[in-house]
Amino acid sequence: MAYEFVLAETDGPIGIVTINRPAVLNALNPGTIAELTEALEAFDADDAIGCMILTGSERAFAAGADITQMVDAGPVEVLRDDNFSRWARLRALHKPLIAAVSGYALGGGCELALMCDLIVASESAQFGQPEVKLGIIPGAGGTQRWARVAGRTAAMEIVLTGDPVSAVEAQRLGIVNRVVPVGAHLDEARRLARTIASRPPLAVRLAKEAVNQAQETSLSAGLELERKLFYLLFASEDKREGMRAFLEKRPARFQGR
Ligand code: CAA
Repeated sequence: MAYEFVLAETDGPIGIVTINRPAVLNALNPGTIAELTEALEAFDADDAIGCMILTGSERAFAAGADITQMVDAGPVEVLRDDNFSRWARLRALHKPLIAAVSGYALGGGCELALMCDLIVASESAQFGQPEVKLGIIPGAGGTQRWARVAGRTAAMEIVLTGDPVSAVEAQRLGIVNRVVPVGAHLDEARRLARTIASRPPLAVRLAKEAVNQAQETSLSAGLELERKLFYLLFASEDKREGMRAFLEKRPARFQGR
C-alpha cells in the first residue's frame, strides 16, 4: 500500500516503516501518525512478519509534533482532535517494535521512540523533550516514560531544561539498547529484528506482554500474569518443537502455533 508520509517495506520476516517528511525533519503531523500506525498494524497482522522496525532519515528520526499545526490551536481544538490518544494504538501492537534512531528524536519524536520496545541509536542521535521551550509540556508520554525508564531525577532534567542528551548518555540512562557508528543503526536494528523474528512467535508475543505489564502493575500481579502466560505456552506446538529440537540437537522449526 502507498502512503504519503511513510514508506513501508519488508526484509524477509522484518517489517520496516520509514517516516518520510524530510523537509520538516520528519515532524509528526496527524497524517504521519495515522499512516505509520496503519502500516505497523498491517505488519502486526501479517503471519510472515516476526519483528518490526520504525525509523526515519539519517538526519532525523522525528523532530517532534508538527509545530505549524499547533501554533494557532486552542485548548478546545486540541481536546476535540485528541490526536495523541491515537498514538495509543501503537501500544497495542503484539509484535516487537524496534526504533532505529539517527539524528533528532525530539518531543513527540522522542516519545515515539520511547513507545517502541527497543531502541538502536546511531552515535549522532539526540533524545530530548524541548516542549518546555515552546511553552508546553510533553503530551504523548514523555514525562511518564522518561520517569519510569530513566528515573525521576533524569526525567526532571530532560523535561525542565528541554535540552537533548546524546545517544551514549541516553544509553547510560537506560532508554537506548545499543549505540552504533553513524550510518549503522538500521543494519544493527535489522540484525536484532532478525534474531527476534527467528524465535517462536507465540513466546515472543507473550514475553513482550509480560515485560510490558511490569510497568503497569504490582509485582505480585505481574508475577501472577507471567506464570499464567508461562503455563499457556505449554499448550503450543512451538514449545514441543523447541524442546524436542534441543534434545535431538537439531534446529527448531517454529510454526507460531
Ligand atoms: N514541526 C514543524 N516543523 C519543524 C519541526 C517541527 N517539530 N522541526 C523542524 N521543523 C522544520 C523547520 O521549521 C524547518 O523548516 P523550513 O526549512 O521551512 O524553515 C525544517 O524543519 C528544518 O529545520 P531547521 O532549519 O530548524 O533545522 P536545524 O538543523 O537548524 O535545527 C532542530 C533542527 C534543532 C531539530 C530544530 O528544527 C528544532 O528545534 N525543531 C523543533 C523541535 C521541537 O521543539 N520539537 C517538539 C515539538 S512539540 C511536541 O512534540 C509535543 C509533544 O509532546 C508530542
